[in-house]
Formats: sequence, C-alpha cells, structure tokens
Amino acid sequence: MKITFAAPELPRSGAIAVFVLDGKAKTATAERLDRETGGAVTRAMAEGRFQGRRDQVLVIPGAPGITASRIVLLGLGKAEDVDDLTAQNAGGRAVGQLATAGFAALAIAADPIRGAKLSGPAFAANVAYGAVLGGYRFDKYHTKVKPEDKASLETVTVMARDPVAARRAYEPLARIAESVLFTRDLVSEPANVIFPASLAQQARSLARLGVKVEVLEKAEMKRLGMGALLGVAQGSANDPRLVVMRWNGAPRARSKRPIAFVGKGVTFDTGGISIKPAANMEDMKWDMGGAGVVIGLMRALAARKAKVNAVGVAGLVENMPSATAQRPGDVVTTMSGQTVEVINTDAEGRLVLGDAVWYCQETFKPHTLIDLATLTGAIIISLGHEMAGLFANDDRLAERLTEAGKKVGEPLWRMPLGDAYDKDINSDIADMKNVGSGRGAGSIAGAQFVKRFVQDGVAWAHLDIAGVTWATRAKPIVPKGGTAFGVRLLDRLVKDHYESR
Ligand code: BES
Ligand code: MN
Ligand code: ZN
Repeated sequence: MKITFAAPELPRSGAIAVFVLDGKAKTATAERLDRETGGAVTRAMAEGRFQGRRDQVLVIPGAPGITASRIVLLGLGKAEDVDDLTAQNAGGRAVGQLATAGFAALAIAADPIRGAKLSGPAFAANVAYGAVLGGYRFDKYHTKVKPEDKASLETVTVMARDPVAARRAYEPLARIAESVLFTRDLVSEPANVIFPASLAQQARSLARLGVKVEVLEKAEMKRLGMGALLGVAQGSANDPRLVVMRWNGAPRARSKRPIAFVGKGVTFDTGGISIKPAANMEDMKWDMGGAGVVIGLMRALAARKAKVNAVGVAGLVENMPSATAQRPGDVVTTMSGQTVEVINTDAEGRLVLGDAVWYCQETFKPHTLIDLATLTGAIIISLGHEMAGLFANDDRLAERLTEAGKKVGEPLWRMPLGDAYDKDINSDIADMKNVGSGRGAGSIAGAQFVKRFVQDGVAWAHLDIAGVTWATRAKPIVPKGGTAFGVRLLDRLVKDHYESR
C-alpha cells in the first residue's frame, strides 16, 4: 500500500474518510461534506447511531453533490484523549474497513482537532502509520482468490494542512512500519520456508541498511561450547545458526557499551522426544517469534538511524524427535560452564536462550540485555493474549519497558522472580534442570532458568511473548497472524531512554 500526503481537497473518486469527535462534533472536512451533500453526513449519523465514539466507523455510500463513491466517518472519542495511538487505530480501522471494498484510493482528512494531545503533522503521520500497520495481509500462498475478495486498496492519501511537515514526521514511522511488516512475514511463514539457515539469510539482508551481520554455524558453536543450544538442534536435519547483528549508531560509537536484544528462534517446536500432541502443533511454526522481533527491531533501529549502539542475537534451531535427538535425562554443558539436566525436551527455548544470552554478554559486554521468547504455554494461562509477561532484575528497566509498552499499545505485566522459585530448578545430578519440580509457576521457572545465565551488573529483562506473538482476532493496527509484538515496544524504549541526543 502506497502512502501519500496532500493538501485537503475533496477527491474526484474513491473513498474519503473524515474524523468525528464524541458527541457528533464534525471536523472541517466532515462539515464541508455535510454541506455539499445537503446534510447527508448528519442524517447518516442519526440513522446509523453514530456518536463519534473512539471505536466507531460508519460507511456512507456516495451522495449527490460529491464525486467520492464512499464517505467513511471515523469516531475519535473525546478531543482531549486523542493521542498517537488514537490516530494509528483510526488509520488502521479505515483501511481495515475498505481494503477489499472495490476501489483503489482512499483519502483521509487529518483535519486540525482543537484540544487534542496530538494534532497537526504528527497526527497526520500517525494516521498514515496506522493505515500501513492495519493494512498488512499475509496472502502470498492464496492462488485462487475470488476477484471480489481481492484487496483493492492501493493508495492512501493523508490530507493535512502542511503535507510536507506531515511527510517528514512520517519518515521514521514508515521505517518502523516496514520493519514490523518484515517481522510479521517472518513469523507467518511456514517452517518449510523459514528454518535456521533461511532465517539467518533473511537477517543478512539487514547489511544493506548498515547492520553488521554475522552468522555462526554449528562448528563454531561447538568450539564455543554451546552444548545446550546444540543439544536442542541435534535431532534435526536442519542445522542451527546463531545470528549476530550490530548497529553502531551512537556518536563516538566505539566507546559506548551496547544495549542487547536476544531472541528465541525455534523455527519449529515439535517438543522433541517429549513430543507435543497433534492438535494445534502447526502453531509452533511461530516459535521463532522472539528472534523475528529481534531481527525486525535491529532493522528498525538501522533504518531510522537510531543514535544507539545495539546488538541483536538470535538463536535459531529446529526442535525435532529423531534417532539423533536428545533424550529426557541427558545432561548438557552450556557455554557458561554450568550443566543442565534436560528433564523435558519440550522446554527447549530456555536451553537456546541460556547459550545465546551468555555468548552475547561475553562478546559485547552490554549494560542492558532484554530477551524475548515464546517460552511458555503457562504465560497464556496467566495473561491470555492481551499482555506479555515481563520479568526483570532491575526495577528501572522494568518501569521503562512497562511505560513504553503502554505508549505503543503492546502492554506488559510484571511477574515475580525469587529464591524459592530459583531453588525449584535445582537438579540432583547437574547444576540445574530445565523444568521446575511442581506443576505451578511454569513461566517463572522459565525466567529463573534464563536468569542463571545473566552476569553480575547487567540490567536484564525477559519478555515471555507466547500469548501475543500470534493473533487469531484482528485489531485495528494488528491484523490476524504474526503480530511482531515487541518491535514497536523496544524501538520506543530505545528512542525514549537509550539514544544520544
Ligand atoms: N514453544 C513452547 C511454548 C508455547 C506454547 C508457545 C504454546 C506458544 C504457545 C515451549 O517451548 C514449550 O513447549 N514450553 C513448555 C514448557 C514445559 C515443558 C515446562 C510448555 O509451556 O508447555
Ligand atoms: Mn517446547
Ligand atoms: Zn518452544
């Protein structure tokens, strides 16, 4: 979908979307359309029970007096509550309504809103941003779409008083949006397309943007002693990879320790010998969601030239049962030197993270490290599909993450860590085991396991994104499928706290 910015005028064809505030208060273009159609907007609002509430949309067929073939009323709610998320959701909702409606062009009138938190060029830019995020579809494998179901919308024009300023405000958001869409594609691809080598190849494409990309293969990981990651990988015909991405955007880059992001990249999780039931096992193609987010985040930081030194590490493996697979009870030695008794081969993500997190710290000495993983089904029991679980050894980092999550609409809920939970993963024959003893607190056990690989002095957070990586219900800026939850959140975290001014 193409985005353009233009000065306000009534389009000659296609659809026009206008904003209406709570209590049916029309913005300037809504007013004008109403006048030129002899009151069609006012009448449609009354007949359609449209109040202008934040989530309301009303589509009106064209009316005598104007050339556009549809008028779309987008409710914004109360002016004083209008912020960047409101603008994004409105843009996403407009596109969601009209993607397959049959015309190629949509013009959205981002008129000034008195008393709003966000107005002018920034408001227009966020409407466009939401339109791109909400217009995402993963439909490349449909070969027999009926003509009436084909996406028709090609161009969205956001009309603003100062289109040049709006376009300028949109530029960095466009870079983030592209990266979100990149991650969504990676997450949505099936596991015969995205496996460790092909996912590493996708990460290599970031070199074009100035990211230094290095890919470690099995022999190198053996040499480094990554016995836990390699133990997971050993059952698969697809060899593992470790992707290392560096973006040095800080001024005087060489002197600054980086912030690091580490992702779980299990390109398919059968459970291994502790095999999963057949029902819904296909979902485990998105068990590389954490890695997908880290790759997309690094892409976003580089594309918008963030003034930060950042490192992204993605541990890529396929967890398969086979004659060469690891067995329950096997003991592996991690790169940290600590040993692990593998009680359950389906608790594989933490084994991958342990080695990836350790490697990252040894190699780059980050001041802050955030890992992301579709780690546990238990976090879905705790939080459902609304929030991701946040675990942290540092209150300030936890607060910053929570705050960033609220701002972008990717909310986090902090979960506890503690000594009693830590003891629960002690093993009788090794330093630790990869699952807890009891049946409760499964997500905490996973977090405690990763914590054993975090070095002193590193501010660390773990995001368990198992419940939010895939959407089965569409939201205005998050269509069904891979969500890329975490890309916008962590980009915002970096922007608000870790960039040089
Ligand atoms: N990838 C799964 C977690 C998961 C489950 C993600 C459902 C998304 C949806 C992870 O590797 C796993 O299998 N975890 C086990 C851990 C258990 C064996 C301690 C789980 O959650 O059941
Ligand atoms: Mn598993
Ligand atoms: Zn898994």
